[in-house]
Amino acid sequence: MKVALGSDHGGYEIKEEIKEYLEEAEVEYKDFGTFSTDSVDYPDIAIPVAEAVSKREYDRGILVCGTGIGMSITANKFKGVRAALCHDLFSAKATRAHNDSNVLTMGERVVGKGLALEIVKVWLGTEFDGGRHQRRINKIKEL
Ligand code: RB5
Repeated sequence: MKVALGSDHGGYEIKEEIKEYLEEAEVEYKDFGTFSTDSVDYPDIAIPVAEAVSKREYDRGILVCGTGIGMSITANKFKGVRAALCHDLFSAKATRAHNDSNVLTMGERVVGKGLALEIVKVWLGTEFDGGRHQRRINKIKEL
């Protein structure tokens, strides 16, 4: 699995933690920035990450900002991208199983590093259930 990872300044610390985890877990990834806590505009990071997932250059994307909301709004503009804002383990599991979400967004001002990492692990490790859920996704694809 190849993961496209990114954050703005508001999500930088958690992005760095996720990077460490992906390295330990030997998951292939690319860091699309940002590379410091200097202020940047979240769409400048969300756009290349979502584009890479949309073009299937990467299997999944993970985006972190202050709230996770700006990243989610931006990523969901891209064809084939199903970005899910998750701040709890139940949603992280359910959105993989039911929505086949391919981008995870989180807010560093909402969750702590510990929970964020657990969300990443559950989200990366949960398979799509298919079946009736595929039918529902097909309806989104038609839009
Ligand atoms: C940056 O201050 C903040 O607006 C951004 O990280 C994010 O929360 C936007 O949705």
